[in-house]
Amino acid sequence: MNILIMGPAGSGKGTMSKKLHDEFGVAHISTGDMLRENVKNNTPLGHQAKDFMETGRLVPDELINEMVKERLLRADVEKGYLMDGFPRTLVQAKAFEDITKEINKPVDIVVNLKVDVDTLAARITGRRVCKNCGAIYHIKNSPSKVEGICDVCGNATVQRPDDTLEQLQVRLKEHTTNTEPVLDYYREKGLVQDFEASRPADEVWLEIKQAIEAIF
Ligand code: AP5
Repeated sequence: MNILIMGPAGSGKGTMSKKLHDEFGVAHISTGDMLRENVKNNTPLGHQAKDFMETGRLVPDELINEMVKERLLRADVEKGYLMDGFPRTLVQAKAFEDITKEINKPVDIVVNLKVDVDTLAARITGRRVCKNCGAIYHIKNSPSKVEGICDVCGNATVQRPDDTLEQLQVRLKEHTTNTEPVLDYYREKGLVQDFEASRPADEVWLEIKQAIEAIF
């Protein structure tokens, strides 16, 4: 089961990835989460990525491709992968195709989440994430039981530095310029399935689950 999940900032990639991982046990590989971990741990990659991330710009392809290649060689990918937020440029898509040929795991489906801009803005500004385990909340749609405290691990929930309306505009522009051509690339291969993802999370999940079950 080899899945890509795509969509603009706040479309629900992380939320749906968690459900896919829990339901099907597929390795969830989020380039955003991996980069944030590097920033948190002050690694050389984290230093190089930090400014790009905080201003909503894409991190350079060569850094991302190397990080992903290393990750895809780990044992848990044996059962398949769920790429969340990668590839985001045509250069990444081509590099990814080479890696997937090497490991003999071609993409089975691209899940594309479509959400209108006003909904994205409300989701991004209301999102809170756990500093420790990364669990995702929303102050209105899915609040933690105790405000500011993660239900899963009891640590503090925070707002991501790039979750402002200003950075959202940059992230949406990056998506239009760099990531929509990637979607076209997979569309030509007949791999893309579109999901109207402005609706409540449970409804979106049901449709994605059915689409995945129809393939595997
Ligand atoms: P990344 O972490 O991938 O951020 P993103 O693509 O902007 O996506 P988000 O994480 O913001 O949103 P999401 O779609 O996962 O939504 P979520 O499920 O959390 O990347 C961050 C940065 O890292 C990039 O800007 C870039 O700098 C760098 N980067 C990462 N990958 C890269 C790459 N490949 N190349 C170069 N640079 C890269 O949901 C959002 C909120 O909405 C939550 O509060 C959630 O509870 C709520 N919600 C979700 N679904 C629903 C629903 N159906 N109904 C109601 N509320 C919902």
